[in-house]
Amino acid sequence: MSALTFQALRSLADGRFHSGEDIARSLNRSRATLSEALKRVPDLGIELFSVPGKGYRLAQPIEFLDAKAIGKRLATVQPRVSLEIVDEIDSTSTRLLALAAEGAPSGTALAAEWQNSGRGRRGRAWVSSLGGSLTFSLLWRFERGAGHLAGLSLAVGEAVARALARCGVERVQVKWPNDVVVDFRKLAGILVETSGESQGPSVAIVGVGVNYRLGEKSLDLIDQAVIDVAGCAQEMPSRSDLLAELLVTLSNALAQFDRSGFAAARDSWRSLHAYQGRRVRVFPAHEAAYDAEVVDVAPDGALVVSTADGRALNLASADITLRAR
Ligand code: BTN
Repeated sequence: MSALTFQALRSLADGRFHSGEDIARSLNRSRATLSEALKRVPDLGIELFSVPGKGYRLAQPIEFLDAKAIGKRLATVQPRVSLEIVDEIDSTSTRLLALAAEGAPSGTALAAEWQNSGRGRRGRAWVSSLGGSLTFSLLWRFERGAGHLAGLSLAVGEAVARALARCGVERVQVKWPNDVVVDFRKLAGILVETSGESQGPSVAIVGVGVNYRLGEKSLDLIDQAVIDVAGCAQEMPSRSDLLAELLVTLSNALAQFDRSGFAAARDSWRSLHAYQGRRVRVFPAHEAAYDAEVVDVAPDGALVVSTADGRALNLASADITLRAR
């Protein structure tokens, strides 16, 4: 997508009609160049109307992230988070993985208005739309070794759920290992990628995608039960407030995890687990599915289930999927 496309969309962000002539003039471009730049807008998962005599109008207003407001909030917190916001990127996590290899400091965060190749768990794509999602990643360096990061993705899920609840999202829960759900539908996805020495230090790239206001187009592309913030908040928080709260809560949770591992978040995680005490079907990556009951979460983040024949199993692999029965 060209920079001009994003500039033009900022002129159209209020959702009202704007004439092509006015937008082109304000951006110092010809009308033909503007019209060319707007042709690719549908690729961003949003709808743009063009009405002869009236101009262009977005189907939904877009709230672009307010770097200044978020920066102000982040300036007050310890540990330090330094955020960059870009219009477009392939994936914020892919970019931070590269920055981590170049030595970027702990607390480096990157948010994108639009990811053209967002990545989900198990090699899946992560679907988002311009203004309809929050997509960001946070790089964190740990004293503890990569072998001691088990449970990290659960601690992250617990922090994301708490931040969303604090911003007015109702009935937020978690689903092992690290989905954030409302009414058993996915509200946010988390991708934690770690590397480093087994005895430490180690580094994690924590990628978070939140469904903010999913349009029809995104819904058509997603093959699981999903929900958005608009569907479960009494009062809609702004995207910027939500991102600031998520980063603040996450940075505290990650610092806490480095000090005491999953232990500090375990009770809260348990109380948020949508599947606690429930009968589930377990889908291991390469084995046959089986039925079990969720009993607990272990100190290392493994899910403790009991099978129909009375065996207690600790499920540790993130490649396992659960489904309610
Ligand atoms: C999941 O499959 O549930 C995890 C989804 C994680 C998506 C986020 S969006 C920001 C970051 N960048 C990516 O490419 N993926 C993560």
